[in-house]
Amino acid sequence: MPGAIYAEGLVKTFGDVRALDGVDLDVPEGTVLGLLGPNGAGKTTTVRCLTTLLRPDSGRAVVAGIDVLDHPDQVRRSIGLSGQFAAVDEYLTGRENLQMVGQLYQMSAKAAKARAGELLDQFNLADAADRPAKTYSGGMRRRLDLAAALVVSPPVMFMDEPTTGLDPRNRQQLWEVIKQLVSGGTTLLLTTQYLEEADHLAHDIAVVDHGRVIARGTSDQLKARTGGERVEVVVHEREHMAAAAEVLAGFGKGDTTVEEHTRKLTVPVTGGAKLLAEVIRELDVRGIEIDDIGLRRPTLDDVFLSLTGHAAEVKDADEDDEGGTSADTRGRKRKKESVK
Ligand SMILES: Nc1ncnc2c1ncn2[C@@H]1O[C@H](COP(=O)(O)OP(=O)(O)O)[C@@H](O)[C@H]1O
Ligand SMILES: [Mg+2]
Repeated sequence: MPGAIYAEGLVKTFGDVRALDGVDLDVPEGTVLGLLGPNGAGKTTTVRCLTTLLRPDSGRAVVAGIDVLDHPDQVRRSIGLSGQFAAVDEYLTGRENLQMVGQLYQMSAKAAKARAGELLDQFNLADAADRPAKTYSGGMRRRLDLAAALVVSPPVMFMDEPTTGLDPRNRQQLWEVIKQLVSGGTTLLLTTQYLEEADHLAHDIAVVDHGRVIARGTSDQLKARTGGERVEVVVHEREHMAAAAEVLAGFGKGDTTVEEHTRKLTVPVTGGAKLLAEVIRELDVRGIEIDDIGLRRPTLDDVFLSLTGHAAEVKDADEDDEGGTSADTRGRKRKKESVK
């Protein structure tokens, strides 16, 4: 039996661009699927096809038990989508915007008011609640837009990069809201460029690249496929790189990657901090001076590199991602767990 969201062989072309090249998805009811991929991978196009905003050239999709191509109107009534349906009215206040959405969904005025109040608190907009939305910053608008998508909790929700452009605090808050929503039984498809976000929220992750799902699994499964944790070393002298590579090869569980210009060597390992200490000792014994060393978990870049053989391309954020560029830069900075 297909899940709450089901897609088979979705293809969508825009002129020469094959945005979707046969996307298959199946999201069991009450779970969260994270659609993970770099800019241009086909995430938004997938969401637009599943939410009836775009008609695929071929393929089939069923959402909340309803065929998307045959009964788009019925599908629209069963889903929530952040970012597109809930157009924020610039001239209304934040509170009025949310109350209006509630009333569009036939809530009583009293219930709509109460729900608006709750959401304004949750999204940290209480102070600005009674100002017109046109005075809001980009981040505040984004939060208001998300809040509007959550006024009623539909059985199936779609969120397209919900936290791109949010600062870390607002991102955390949104994660909490999403967790609550899902614990209430909502099925969610969420797109993201951040492995960390998929990690926090998704039961299952589908990695997309060039319009296809290239891997599927839990976050742990994907990381394991990517080779788990790795040791990263920056050596002080370029002449020591070969010797350092030899040391790492002795400890590694896979190929050592060498980046000449940054004097950085990376190797997948198992064994955690204890192994890291051994690597440090061995480098020291051989007189190899290091500028930096650390143990780190795979990033989205590593997952991509391992799955596709090419690094995720870093492009400018979509035009609709307010403040997206800086968030992308942050999100793609490699995190290191330093030795304690
Ligand atoms: N309306 C459109 N017209 C032309 N090309 C498009 C359109 N929408 C998306 N594309 C192209 O399709 C590909 C997938 O885009 P998109 O689904 O927006 O990716 P993502 O959301 O993963 O960043 C990209 O190459 C993009 O440029
Ligand atoms: Mg997109």
